[in-house]
Amino acid sequence: MPKMRFMTIERHIIEGERLHPSATGELSRLLSDLAIAIKVISLEVNKAGLVDILGLTGDQNVHGETVRKLDMYAHEMLFKAMDHGGHLCVMASEEEENIIHIPHDYKIGKYVLLFDPLDGSSNIDANVSIGTIFSIYKRITPDGTPGTIHDCLQPGVEQVAAGYAVYGSSTMLVYTTGHGVHGFTLDPSIGEFILSHENIRIPEKGKIYSINEGNYLYWHPGLKKYIKYLQEEDKATQRPYSSRYIGSMVADLHRTLLYGGIFMYPSDSRSPRGKLRLMYECNPLAFIIEAAGGKASDGRSRLLEIKPNDLHERCPIFIGSKYDVNVVEDFIARADRGEI
Ligand code: AHG
Ligand code: MN
Ligand code: MN
Repeated sequence: MPKMRFMTIERHIIEGERLHPSATGELSRLLSDLAIAIKVISLEVNKAGLVDILGLTGDQNVHGETVRKLDMYAHEMLFKAMDHGGHLCVMASEEEENIIHIPHDYKIGKYVLLFDPLDGSSNIDANVSIGTIFSIYKRITPDGTPGTIHDCLQPGVEQVAAGYAVYGSSTMLVYTTGHGVHGFTLDPSIGEFILSHENIRIPEKGKIYSINEGNYLYWHPGLKKYIKYLQEEDKATQRPYSSRYIGSMVADLHRTLLYGGIFMYPSDSRSPRGKLRLMYECNPLAFIIEAAGGKASDGRSRLLEIKPNDLHERCPIFIGSKYDVNVVEDFIARADRGEI
């Protein structure tokens, strides 16, 4: 009989704790609470076509984008699932302008949670994969007091855990505490996340690039040359590359993690800091990709070392297989020096 492994996410999180002898179990319970919130969001995402939840609330979020109902549902679900666990001192969400305090009557913990409750929301009505992204830090302000903006504005290298859920043909949850990246698939018949992708390693080099090419006109000259380079024929470097762009960062990143290659959302002459948010999208996904052996850059330096100034700041991102991110950095640097 083949060797069967039946590992639920709760069991995996608890076993992972053994790697950290000083662990108190708090982070494990926090991750388990997150997994529950994600199951509930997944259920609602799957029902989206059936109930009157599709469509727009009409309001705009802090980024000036129209908010869809499911974004707010996911935002509220995460808040409600995480506010009373006693593990957090503060939260921040892409859908909320200011930091989110833990209600007065609940215990204050030592962790900080930042999240993009629903990523790729423009794809909801087309039944295309969307996701949830989360990022966890240890607080830097004194224990027992309410968390502050300083706890939230830490560079990505300080993350203690990060993960995402992708609501696709099945729901998957991928997380890391910095030691290995693990993927779980939701078995809807028993409502459990089961380990399906143990210790994911991103290939050193891929043959897929992912970028919104509609913005070509506004790109940095080095990036224009890089994309043309990927489209040229060269057997040794497996060019031309294929192009894939879903428009849900989580889904594009998930494919990149499994197949290798590169995902880019660069700055351009119209958006000097790109589009994606450092705290809710770029940092957690960069932490995961690095833990899987890949690389994440803002085009010139390591993304995780950026010191954030604002909760909602944006950041250009080049992320994926080490080889591919190194090549695009090289193109940008050579163009900056006027060599190409
Ligand atoms: P969100 O739905 O959280 O606002 O994020 C959307 C983001 C990201 O998921 C995706 O990669 C990107 O927007 C797509 O942007 P373009 O439509 O400009 O390509
Ligand atoms: Mn997003
Ligand atoms: Mn979002």
